[in-house]
Amino acid sequence: MTLFEWDNSIALGIPVIDEQHKMLFTLVNSLNAVINREYSSEVVGEVIWKLVTYVTEHFSEEERLMLSCAYPGLSAHRTEHDTFVTRLQEIQESFISGKEVGDDVLNFLVEWLVCHIKGTDQGYSRFIHEQVRAD
Ligand SMILES: [Fe+2]
Repeated sequence: MTLFEWDNSIALGIPVIDEQHKMLFTLVNSLNAVINREYSSEVVGEVIWKLVTYVTEHFSEEERLMLSCAYPGLSAHRTEHDTFVTRLQEIQESFISGKEVGDDVLNFLVEWLVCHIKGTDQGYSRFIHEQVRAD
């Protein structure tokens, strides 16, 4: 079962970022799939590793984008990113030490991402679109 289906209601209108957001949900859905199909812990571990890596790269790219347009909310936004990465790393560490990834983790990932994209990411997206219009 697909955990989350990306749709235009969470699109920012910045194609490169929207594509990355789609990939984040693809990875969360992959994690859900490998857990439910009871794949080996190596496979689950690999999907978690991909998710952590991709999230980190994506956040860096968003922060570069915000920096390049002098977005005033960058610092607060970065704090949210850092907190999420820390939580993801904790999930990864507890998986490595033998704890299974359950629905609570999957729900947390989807809810955090949707809430962050619809709220915090919309903030810089609006700012960038306003700047483009003002030029
Ligand atoms: Fe963000």
